[in-house]
Amino acid sequence: MFEFNSIVVLSDKKDKQYMITLKEGARFSTQYGYIEHNDIAALDEGDIIKSTLGHPYLVYKPTYMDFVMNIKRQAQIIYPKDAAAMLMWCDVAPNQKILESGIGQGALSLAILRALAGTGSLTSYEIRADFAEQSAKFIKQFMGETPANHVIEVRSIYDGIDGTYDRVLLDLPEPWHVVPHLKTGLKNGGLIVAYLPTILQVKTYVDALKECGYFSDIETAEFTRRPWKVDGMSVRPEMWIYNHSAFLISARKLKNI
Ligand SMILES: C[S@@+](CC[C@H](N)C(=O)[O-])C[C@H]1O[C@@H](n2cnc3c(N)ncnc32)[C@H](O)[C@@H]1O
Repeated sequence: MFEFNSIVVLSDKKDKQYMITLKEGARFSTQYGYIEHNDIAALDEGDIIKSTLGHPYLVYKPTYMDFVMNIKRQAQIIYPKDAAAMLMWCDVAPNQKILESGIGQGALSLAILRALAGTGSLTSYEIRADFAEQSAKFIKQFMGETPANHVIEVRSIYDGIDGTYDRVLLDLPEPWHVVPHLKTGLKNGGLIVAYLPTILQVKTYVDALKECGYFSDIETAEFTRRPWKVDGMSVRPEMWIYNHSAFLISARKLKNI
């Protein structure tokens, strides 16, 4: 059974996904007729339902990837392949005190909150009030409630960081302005990971990390995803590829000198 106001995915045999919020009395309309939301609500995850013209749809709750890839977005998100790498490179784990900036759509925040699993805390600094508000709704929509361990502050991280964090994750245009604030904003031994689309940004940021003198283990990498087609005797890389998204730069804070 699915609850009204929850989100469900309808996936057809061509693997086309439709993500909808169930509303009592509403209809999901398609080129193959329609399906009553009330009929979907009565199903179990993994059931198949047919539209009025007989087209079958598999019904299930969205995964993190379904949700962030299918939602109508206001800001560019960090795609799951990079969000996954950021969580590993930043060693995000329960009970940590984490700072991220900016929040944008909230896709990375959601990944961090899931890794924290209700423990520790996530603070998000976001310069735009509209993104702060919209991302809070996005997170609540997926998690069902506003997580008690998440605080969004409308402010520029370039102006400073209050407190000291175990981990910092950055997705904003000029992270080199954050480096001076990490002297006290990131604990010694703590990790920081930044996401930067262009290599000129990477160069400026890495230079700033090196020049400040309190970072070691500075690494830059790009993570690629290469899908393959496996269909009968046709087993080969797909003809299309994911192109460039961004570079990830990780570093570890040294004792202040
Ligand atoms: C690309 S979006 C972040 C997307 C987010 N990581 C996600 O996965 O949904 C970049 C965000 O950084 C915010 N931003 C830019 N400069 C900032 C600053 N100085 N302090 C705080 N937020 C900032 C922007 O308003 C924008 O919301």
